[in-house]
Amino acid sequence: MSLQDSAIYPAPPEYGIFKKKIQGLTGIDLDAYKYQIHRRIHMLMQRWGVKTYEEYFRTIETNPEKLREFLNYLTINVTEFFRNANRWWELRDRIIPQMYRELGHQRIKLWSAGCSSGEEPYSLAILSMETKIATPQPVLAGDIDQGVLEKAQEGIYNKRQIANAPKEWVARYFTDIGQDNVQVKKEVKAKVKFKHMNLIKDRFESGFDIILCRNVVIYFGPETKSALYKKFFDALRPGGYLMTGATEQIFDHKQIGFESAGPFLYRRPPK
Ligand SMILES: C[S@@+](CC[C@H](N)C(=O)[O-])C[C@H]1O[C@@H](n2cnc3c(N)ncnc32)[C@H](O)[C@@H]1O
Repeated sequence: MSLQDSAIYPAPPEYGIFKKKIQGLTGIDLDAYKYQIHRRIHMLMQRWGVKTYEEYFRTIETNPEKLREFLNYLTINVTEFFRNANRWWELRDRIIPQMYRELGHQRIKLWSAGCSSGEEPYSLAILSMETKIATPQPVLAGDIDQGVLEKAQEGIYNKRQIANAPKEWVARYFTDIGQDNVQVKKEVKAKVKFKHMNLIKDRFESGFDIILCRNVVIYFGPETKSALYKKFFDALRPGGYLMTGATEQIFDHKQIGFESAGPFLYRRPPK
């Protein structure tokens, strides 16, 4: 623990009241996050020159822009199309063809859990079109941050965000709208359904074939992560896959019931 940390810890009693109020306002349980979250909030308060938690809560409560900044800072929305591209090519070249063979049909139910501004679920939609799988329903795309979901629905991105997409896919699925921006075409948009959701609290649908939950759980504590991965296990059909982020190993995957299917890829065993 650094000197700066020890100056902040233990959290003052007002932090407890602040946590309760934040849960009431946003549904976010700050206790579900690791200890760094307290430090991050403290840094944010310093940045805005706010001295007490009470004052900080009032600011967030009364100013939608500040609330959005708080959520952004807390949850970090960084993402891009086909992030960690090799993982996507593994889905395309190994996992999806294997599903065809095993299922004998091509209907695949997909979920981007913690979808941020839409790059990941739109990548899934594009992949489904490229591999010609029929999705029985649009790709489910959920996030706790209403602000990013609004951006996702617009589907407008800087060209930097599509650097990993093959050139012919860019031509097929995006419209150049000038000023270095592109917009996803409406056929792609139609394949994604955005939904406001809190992965920690909400109940999940079931019967998914592939769930992506990548770069979402970094601030979750170990118990929260385990509980979430168990919920994903139940939401998958037998034989379905959970893909985590490029550094996110599930240490207790065997206890949960998963088998390892490759790096950062877990499978609910087939029946
Ligand atoms: C870094 S982005 C990851 C986006 C994408 N999955 C990727 O890997 O590129 C993390 C997202 O998780 C969302 N998130 C964090 N906690 C969440 C929760 N409890 N429920 C739903 N979404 C959450 C954040 O709002 C943020 O948009």
